[in-house]
Amino acid sequence: MKKIIVTGASGQIGSELVPALRSRYGADNVWACGHKRPPPRQLLQAGPYLNLDIRDSAALDQVIADHKIDTIFHLAALLSAVAEEKPQLAWEINMGGLINVLETARRHNCAVFHPSSIGAFGPTTPPDLTPQVTIQRPNTIYGVTKVAGELLCDYYFSRFRVDSRGVRFPGLISYKTPPGGGTTDYAVEIFRAAVQHKPYTCFLKKGTVLDMMYMEDAINAAITLMEADSGQLSTRNAFNITAMSFAPEELFNEIRKHLPDVTIDYEIDPIRQAIADSWPNRLDDSEARRQWGWQPKYTLATMTSAMIAGLTQHNQENN
Ligand code: SER
Repeated sequence: MKKIIVTGASGQIGSELVPALRSRYGADNVWACGHKRPPPRQLLQAGPYLNLDIRDSAALDQVIADHKIDTIFHLAALLSAVAEEKPQLAWEINMGGLINVLETARRHNCAVFHPSSIGAFGPTTPPDLTPQVTIQRPNTIYGVTKVAGELLCDYYFSRFRVDSRGVRFPGLISYKTPPGGGTTDYAVEIFRAAVQHKPYTCFLKKGTVLDMMYMEDAINAAITLMEADSGQLSTRNAFNITAMSFAPEELFNEIRKHLPDVTIDYEIDPIRQAIADSWPNRLDDSEARRQWGWQPKYTLATMTSAMIAGLTQHNQENN
């Protein structure tokens, strides 16, 4: 990886992946590309930024050619809950954007990182220690685009030798940029409420167990997988990875150890609850561990400490 673009750079993952890539490969070698959300100040100030709508294949191709890009981290996508509200747009962005990326990668010989998700599983998937290769019959449009995306990336590898790689991310927890429109977002919102000593109303019910991960681990996963020797990989799209798995009340109890005055109540959103109920409780990530040395650093306890410290400092700096 020498010249990199990151699509969806202003989103929850992109806003932390871009600085990590810039410090590793040099700020001038990493182009942050965003479209809808205004770019965070530090992305604009610390290196090149381009406004790019991923549905515009000609503009994408031009960027790749102009800057002699060799690696694309393609993050631009709609998340699960917002995709359920706008299924046609989700298809247009998630699938239309991906095929544009894969086509331009084929023409310009680029490697591609494309995240899949726990959303690529569905109600008939074994929910506990979900295997790497298993039943994938999601009943959400987000899941449909994720399974199709995994297959499309595999197809571009086997048919055109595009070096495409991906992981199935669980819910990602971070404090710098909020997620937008996901089912796992409660695990970020609850921290934001807690550090401001506000009560939190959770949209998922007690007992809804889902895989989760602290953002630092997610960023390391993306970079480590893209740096892995291709010969090591018998899987490409997409590796199960996880770091922890919990229900809302377990996260709440962990936060209460630090902030004893926090409160939670539950007001269930039927759409997001149905999505969460269709997803696994815990993935088996042994193939990622075996093939490229995946190893998360953060547990529920250490992630909770890091989130509270990070958000507290972030709020102080921004007030
Ligand atoms: N965090 C995502 C969502 O909730 C899942 O990949 O939509």
